[in-house]
Amino acid sequence: MKFLIFAAVFLLDRDAFLAHGSDDWSYWGENGPEHWPGICNTGENQSPIDIITDDAVKTDLGSLKFTRYDFAFSADVVNTGHSIQVGLTGVPIHLKGGSLPTTYVLDQMHFHWGSEHTINGEQEALELHLVHYSKDYDNVTYASEFENGLAVVAVLFEVSNEDNLYLEQILEAVKTVSSLNSTATTKLQTKLIPSLLLPKDHSSYYRYYGSLTTPECKEAAIWTVLDNKMPISVSQIEIFRKVVNSNNETLAYNNRPTQDLGSRTVYHHLEGYSSAHNLQIPKTLLVIVGFFSVLMQGARSP
Ligand SMILES: *[C@@H]1O[C@H](CO)[C@@H](O)[C@H](O)[C@H]1NC(C)=O
Ligand SMILES: *[C@@H]1O[C@H](CO)[C@@H](O)[C@H](O)[C@H]1NC(C)=O
Ligand SMILES: *[C@@H]1O[C@H](CO)[C@@H](O)[C@H](O)[C@H]1NC(C)=O
Repeated sequence: MKFLIFAAVFLLDRDAFLAHGSDDWSYWGENGPEHWPGICNTGENQSPIDIITDDAVKTDLGSLKFTRYDFAFSADVVNTGHSIQVGLTGVPIHLKGGSLPTTYVLDQMHFHWGSEHTINGEQEALELHLVHYSKDYDNVTYASEFENGLAVVAVLFEVSNEDNLYLEQILEAVKTVSSLNSTATTKLQTKLIPSLLLPKDHSSYYRYYGSLTTPECKEAAIWTVLDNKMPISVSQIEIFRKVVNSNNETLAYNNRPTQDLGSRTVYHHLEGYSSAHNLQIPKTLLVIVGFFSVLMQGARSP
């Protein structure tokens, strides 16, 4: 029963996405990010942000546990008019650990071309968002009303000379849905293993509290930006850049500009990082201690 309700909700969500031309926001022009309404404009916990690595507080938050990410899933690919979104069918996929307050369920993943998060001011070619909602809530829409309701993992893709073969099956589908005017949804030809879209090593990541990066910009998301990047070739990026948006314009980019960090802290999880490193022992104190130990030794010697 619960599953049926879930499936129905899922279909409703889809229909909302497929309602062409009803969107009143865009990545440029008079409906561009500067004009997005409400909390998008007034919020103080907005995403994305520029991550200044020197300012990030190093700590060990615990490792992330990706459950069933290595299973093979049937998937469909949707042109939402703002992004390319991938939905998986089958057993639920979970994210926990990494100091997350609870277990989170993967809802969907989507891409931004032009990365949204930047590291020390540097933008990458692509960013994948894996959107999860807290298992304490029935669906992603409802979860987004609550603090800590969502957990989003961001994977940055940097330009490489070689194609990323793991993106190929998705890119084939992108070509099919890139014009909203034809079919907006298509099934992947082959099963998708989500873990292949993530870097193998997630022992280093950035963590902060923020929002969804599209209207209504709900401030409900625990962000995890993986430090290690994945590759993508220029010709692969070009396929994303040919996607047509809800206004029948080419969606050349779909990244929201970075937002003020404000009073928030960005943490840098490093596996095994000892809090002892965090005690910034002033150099002068070390000198004084050293001086006294020399004195003591001197006193002891005959
Ligand atoms: C989501 O869950 C809430 C709370 O259980 C429910 O009221 C709502 O109808 C559900 N569906 C959608 C699409 O939000
Ligand atoms: C594209 O949309 C227009 C207007 O809605 C319609 O007339 C046309 O037949 C559509 N073309 C295709 C290929 O679906
Ligand atoms: C979309 O744009 C293409 C070319 O830019 C044009 O041929 C087509 O008629 C347009 N479709 C709609 C529905 O406006």
